Amino acid sequence: MSSVLYFDHAATSWPKPQGVVDAMVKCMQEYAANPGRGSHQMGVKASRTLFEGRKVLAQLFHVANPNDISFTLNTTSALNIAIKGYVKPGDHVICTAVEHNSVRRPLEYLKSRNQIEVSYAETNAKGSIDLQKLEKLIQPNTTLMICNHSSNLLGSILPLEPISQLMKKHGVKLLLDAAQSAGVLDIDVQAMGIDMLAFPGHKGLLGPQGTGGLYISPELDVEPLLHGGTGSQSEATEQPKVRPDRYEAGTPNTPGIAGLVEGVKTIRSETVQRIHTKEWHQIQTLMEGLLSIPGITLYGPELGEDKTGITAFNVKHAEASEVAFILDQSFQIAVRAGYHCTPLAHETAGTFGSGAVRASIGYSTTDAEIEQFIRAIQEISRHYNQV
Ligand SMILES: Cc1ncc(COP(=O)(O)O)c(C=O)c1O
Repeated sequence: MSSVLYFDHAATSWPKPQGVVDAMVKCMQEYAANPGRGSHQMGVKASRTLFEGRKVLAQLFHVANPNDISFTLNTTSALNIAIKGYVKPGDHVICTAVEHNSVRRPLEYLKSRNQIEVSYAETNAKGSIDLQKLEKLIQPNTTLMICNHSSNLLGSILPLEPISQLMKKHGVKLLLDAAQSAGVLDIDVQAMGIDMLAFPGHKGLLGPQGTGGLYISPELDVEPLLHGGTGSQSEATEQPKVRPDRYEAGTPNTPGIAGLVEGVKTIRSETVQRIHTKEWHQIQTLMEGLLSIPGITLYGPELGEDKTGITAFNVKHAEASEVAFILDQSFQIAVRAGYHCTPLAHETAGTFGSGAVRASIGYSTTDAEIEQFIRAIQEISRHYNQV
């Protein structure tokens, strides 16, 4: 096993449970044929893996019909299908001021083509949203609200139920970006009134890269982004209307989904609540340790407040990129520095211009690793602040 201290779970979780690796190898060695296309035994087994994947994900997210979940490459592709397939010319869309570029860029693209209007709902430096101000942004042509469940910079958690109730009141649909919450925070699409849910397989769900998905409520009509072979209704020139085929043109990542199934099973047997509680306690210890070091500034929710396993910080007199480089080269600690694909959240936190170091923990993080991380930052801070 590698001796790297991996604090970059918000980008991709690592290491994966052995069951995930084994399931992928088994698929590659025994049945990695094309699912949904051939009627031979290997193809049928591959199709069953996809079926099983939809089933366990539907159980995790309380989706009534597993066919309302389509597999995608990652969260970004799910968000693009949802945004570009749902909004119509003349629509107004709201998102928050802590969104990832995976939301901001598709919206700004449509806006630059004069197709839609976009408003960004203000959040404070801790990532909290003001619901009264949010309501004031709603216009007669507002059709969609998009928000992340947890910020990938601050770890802050948005209050989903009140947001969802507000949107329901005004007939606005809710698209949730669960990139930082799937597998880490409870998600119940029915109870929480989520109309579309974009999620990664490769982060909190412990699957491999190249996996993700999109849930679309059966009440919504969303145009597909990709058109092509689905193995079904081959004689038709149109993309099939039936789900999930409507959104799954082309060969899927069957070995990846085989791994994802095991990742989701691990999460379900551990339970999302236990995972969140463990990560919350560890991130509190990490924050406490960092706060005790002279010259450290932390961003986002304060000690004791709810958040996911992410913390962003800077070391006085050091560039964020230098800190990340030293952590990597001298301490074998993997973090991410810079803007984390979310310049919006950096503007909100007041770190636009400097960036920040992001430490993100996950399912496999141990208490000993947290202590080692704190010691490394103590040394780095001492080096930069000794004069
Ligand atoms: C909040 C948020 N949204 C979207 C994404 C994009 O996810 P993916 O890499 O799965 O496309 C990320 C990735 O870190 C994220 O943190």
